[in-house]
Amino acid sequence: MRRLPPVLLKDGCSHDLISLIRTILAACKEISFRVGQGALSGVLGSTLDENIQGETQKKLDVLSNQLLKDILLESGYVKAIASEEEPGTVAGNPDAEYIVAFDPLDGSSNIDINSLVGTIFSIMRAPKDSDPADPNIFLQKGDQQVAAGYVLYGPSTMLALTTGQGTRIFTLDKTQGTFLLTQDFAKVPEQTKEFAINTSNQRHWQPAMQNYISDLLAGETGPRGRNFNMRWIAAMVGDVHRVLSRGGLFTYPQDTKNPEKPYKLRLLYEANPMAMLIEQAGGLASTGYERIMDIEPEQIHQRVAVILGSKEEVEACLSYHK
Ligand code: AHG
Ligand code: MN
Ligand code: MN
Ligand code: MN
Repeated sequence: MRRLPPVLLKDGCSHDLISLIRTILAACKEISFRVGQGALSGVLGSTLDENIQGETQKKLDVLSNQLLKDILLESGYVKAIASEEEPGTVAGNPDAEYIVAFDPLDGSSNIDINSLVGTIFSIMRAPKDSDPADPNIFLQKGDQQVAAGYVLYGPSTMLALTTGQGTRIFTLDKTQGTFLLTQDFAKVPEQTKEFAINTSNQRHWQPAMQNYISDLLAGETGPRGRNFNMRWIAAMVGDVHRVLSRGGLFTYPQDTKNPEKPYKLRLLYEANPMAMLIEQAGGLASTGYERIMDIEPEQIHQRVAVILGSKEEVEACLSYHK
């Protein structure tokens, strides 16, 4: 087992980047400990506050956000941060090269049932001579990400990380407090018989998704007669980790349940980082109509439809969206 190896970048090696990643992981180790303590550490349950998303914040949402925000801003490695739990961006070191967007605690509805939760992060370069207080510095296409990852707080704490050289999986050795490399190049199998969708929204989906899922369940998509298994963890990190581990199709499609919010997942700190991890592992990540990492963001909490996973199954689903 190797410790976190030098992180090779698309354009050479940067000590600041690996220090930035290590800083994020230091906060995630603390989050992992608090999640593991559960009821013993008073982190369960909700606060009385609502975040910019219109969600009631869980105590662990607030704690995880504070841990990441403090350690990143104190580190000097970031010019600014954006977070699901922050209304706007927060300025950091004006001379730093990187900016970080993160979902400090993904899968909040799982906290109180002791189910999977995680942290998702996306690292981009700050535009040259940019103003750390300018939120527009985050409005970069997913293709501009320098690194992306998640930490999954499960029976073991696992890190999935990419810097554009493939997707690697690490496992936290809790006795040493280090992430050890446990899978050098994750690969999403091109075919699958497993899909993940919140089926309770079926009547609110667009016809394209209704038709695809109905044909899939009838065994009429792709090779005839396949029986699919349905899985739904209600934490994107858990569903994506399953796809990275053994393939599958994960989708949170457009729905008309709430006319003001036709999409659920956030582009900057959920869809983009997961899309980079999945594509680097040979999978696809689309909105149904365009590649997620091609989207030009218009605001930091922008939401998008997500269809990602095994290449052939995503392509089958996209064929219904023509
Ligand atoms: P978060 O807990 O960070 O707000 O994200 C929850 C997201 C995502 O993790 C998950 O796939 C999806 O919401 C679950 O939505 P439903 O509760 O509608 O199933
Ligand atoms: Mn989330
Ligand atoms: Mn969250
Ligand atoms: Mn949330």
